[in-house]
Amino acid sequence: MLEVKCSSVTPEVVLKASGHVEKFTDLMVKDEKTGTCFWADHLLKDFCKEKLEKDLSLPVEKLYARPETAQGIFVNFLKLYNYKGNKLPFAAAQIGQAFRNEISPRQGLLRVREFTLAEIEHFVDPEDKSHPKFADVANLEFLMFPREEQISGQQANKFCLGEAVSKGIVSNETLGYFLGRVYLFLTRLGIDKERLRFRQHLANEMAHYAADCWDAEIECSYGWIECVGIADRSAFDLRAHAAMDEKEAMEMKAVLETKGELEFHVCTLGKAVSIKSNMVSISKVIKKEHQRVFTPSVIEPSFGIGRIIYCLFEHSFHTRPSKASDEQLNVFRFPPLVAPIKCTVFPLVQNPKYEEVAKKISKSLTAGGIFCETDSTGSSIGKKYARADEIGMPFAITVDSVDSVTIRERDSRDQIRVKVEDVRKVVKKLISG
Ligand code: GAP
Repeated sequence: MLEVKCSSVTPEVVLKASGHVEKFTDLMVKDEKTGTCFWADHLLKDFCKEKLEKDLSLPVEKLYARPETAQGIFVNFLKLYNYKGNKLPFAAAQIGQAFRNEISPRQGLLRVREFTLAEIEHFVDPEDKSHPKFADVANLEFLMFPREEQISGQQANKFCLGEAVSKGIVSNETLGYFLGRVYLFLTRLGIDKERLRFRQHLANEMAHYAADCWDAEIECSYGWIECVGIADRSAFDLRAHAAMDEKEAMEMKAVLETKGELEFHVCTLGKAVSIKSNMVSISKVIKKEHQRVFTPSVIEPSFGIGRIIYCLFEHSFHTRPSKASDEQLNVFRFPPLVAPIKCTVFPLVQNPKYEEVAKKISKSLTAGGIFCETDSTGSSIGKKYARADEIGMPFAITVDSVDSVTIRERDSRDQIRVKVEDVRKVVKKLISG
């Protein structure tokens, strides 16, 4: 999979071609005084004047804060396709800021006007309904909520993914493959699989570009929240951009040719691309593949990072009684893979020899790329454990001798004894599961 980073400020021509200007209802705010059409003015006003107008030779009115990262990949399709040796399937991913003109931002990270979006655009031959790795996920069983069951008032039920694809509930293996991979991704992060369901969009919910779409919804205290959208965008976007490219190119060519210039420019996302007069368009290049005329289809998982993180906090948080008092202690049950700090290291009692060993272990863990913290306070061991549990550190290393330590696991509170020189190796193994 390729990874790209495109500008989050998008020329109007791109979002006109994609249909967002006309059909994406929560796109932008219009400044009534100036008539300028953009949303994130704190971002754009200062930035545009100095930089974008100069770099892109575009007036500010022609720029939009992007509603999705996907368009940056679509307008660079040709370069990515060439880079991948002109072969399908291939995928490109992008992580970055996206902007929505939410009328009423609320619920913390759940509904905001600027958020981190992570998207994969997987390009396939539309006639190829199989996916080479579908067998890896075909046996997964999880809650699915197909359109028909929503209409008839049923609840989400557990389905075997392989059967859902073979019965046509999920329209093709590639879409099914990404449903499976999103399920694995979310549950490995720590999302509770009983509070995760895949809900198919009703016909009236689907975005203008989608042929089919399933949302990974996670239940939290605000109800079921859409966190990942997995859409079959068919060939909508590439067709739209190819048509616009040709139209724009022809228009610009006509203008420039009257001035006797050989070269002309077509504006794609990020910068103007210079093209010689023998035009190369997306559709023409694709025509060559297998001597068959087609435009690739796109399957797109689109992850709202803030929403996933919020739900992960809720699913990971719990309280348990303290052993020493009748207090309830807070615990974040982050899996080691996700926990920002992997372990705490501390001497059992304040003793220079133990403190020396704790420092040595901490240094060795840091050198091994394991993020840990040392707790040099004079608190009791119970308090030190509680502090570590509260911010979700999976392991606590207690130095209670000069040649061996105990490693305690947060959730089970089980302990093992490990030689000082083996600590790094053992912690690495524990973290990788
Ligand atoms: N390219 C497809 C696309 O943008 P979307 O369903 O509009 O699809 C994708 O958005 C994801 O972005 C959603 O599943 C959600 O997690 C997140 N998202 C959308 N609007 C959001 C908002 N206002 N605040 C936070 N996250 C949002």
